[in-house]
Amino acid sequence: MKMIDIILEKRYGRELTDEQIAFFVKGVTDGSIPDYQVSSLLMAIVLNGMSEREMTTLTIEMSRSGDVNDLSFLEGIAVDKHSTGGVGDKVTPLLLPLLATYGIQSVKLSGRGLGYTGGTVDKFESIEGFECEIARKRFPELIKNTGMVISGQTPDLAPADKILYSLRDVTGTVDSIPLIASSIMSKKIAGGAKALVLDVTCGFGAFMKEESRARELSAAMIRIGEGAGIKTRAVVTDMDQPLGRNVGNTLEMQEVYDTLCGKGSKDVQIVVVELAFQLVRLAGKGMDLDDNELRIDLLKRLTDGRALEEYRKLIRSQGGVINEDGSPQYVDYPFDAMHINAPEDGYITNVRANLIGRASCTLGAGRFEKSDKIDFGAGVILCVKKGDKVKKGDTLCALCQGEKNPLPDADERLYSAFDLASKAFEIGPNPPKEKDPVIAVLPKKPFGVK
Ligand code: URA
Repeated sequence: MKMIDIILEKRYGRELTDEQIAFFVKGVTDGSIPDYQVSSLLMAIVLNGMSEREMTTLTIEMSRSGDVNDLSFLEGIAVDKHSTGGVGDKVTPLLLPLLATYGIQSVKLSGRGLGYTGGTVDKFESIEGFECEIARKRFPELIKNTGMVISGQTPDLAPADKILYSLRDVTGTVDSIPLIASSIMSKKIAGGAKALVLDVTCGFGAFMKEESRARELSAAMIRIGEGAGIKTRAVVTDMDQPLGRNVGNTLEMQEVYDTLCGKGSKDVQIVVVELAFQLVRLAGKGMDLDDNELRIDLLKRLTDGRALEEYRKLIRSQGGVINEDGSPQYVDYPFDAMHINAPEDGYITNVRANLIGRASCTLGAGRFEKSDKIDFGAGVILCVKKGDKVKKGDTLCALCQGEKNPLPDADERLYSAFDLASKAFEIGPNPPKEKDPVIAVLPKKPFGVK
């Protein structure tokens, strides 16, 4: 088989055979296909798409390009969650303890942040002592203790995706539904999930700017997941504005703690409850409750201290420090360095998540390059959300940097972040149309609900 023939097939819009796809993934993984030919096929896929069969085969082959996790030590079905990326996304640290209140055990493999959407591993590492690089052989012991593990993704899981993603990043081939869907799902399959909820973000701060594209991506991932024997649901969520009020590592974990103490933002609660609802149902729990009762029960557990107890157990089990008052101790704390004020009276019609995300990253909360150092205390506190009424001079947001360890070029970063965040707020004379944080759940009525 020759790579040039595979490229030509796709260039002329024809379907690739399973053998051709397997040959391609094997050649990517062992390095026998040069980058220029890999990139050429990627571009042909971007332009001419893939059928459902091709997409499923590509995903399965990628998932088998390295190790596949065996999670058979878990009691019950192995649940997993994935987000396509968002600003202020603190769902995972809330979801795991909430599921634990139902006795649902979970191993969550997460990444570090690159670019403005932030990574769950960085957020957990903002807690003093918290260890995220957990050897796989320790998973059963940690699960036995707390029912939860959060760990960095190991490089031997779906290595073909790693190679393909770094090429896509520099060849303008990231934005393609078959490539995004196969990339995400290959890691989930290799990770050992048997029930999966996908948080497919949609809006200014997400990969998918339009709802129709978010639905298309969701449908593709559901088909791949179900085809691979994973019960899969997708929740399309709003990412026009950041989720919740805090963006940044310590800041988001502080908001997690507040949410678990019953003082969280409504949008965070709604998204977490919906994602948890899907997984609780997939895990076959809460069957004595109807859908409405289950959602109410989840919200109660999230806010009345039960999920908080589980969260503290998770932190302690991975070496994190808890203060005497029960809150986590952080590596660094946010210092409120500058405010942005409303230039006029009116209603907040937009808080553009992409600009807030970039401002937070510029302040030091994220990385532009893999090797960049981060400032755990950096980020943005939103004092207003879409729909709020403001008066000229009211504070719209606070820009923060670490109290103890700001980055060496902190001042320069602060002024650049000010420019970015100032443009994020749009103010108009009338209140904007309300938008639910949960836009859609796919597939519709998945649980045989009337
Ligand atoms: N996230 C992934 O893991 N892969 C993509 O291609 C895009 C987002």
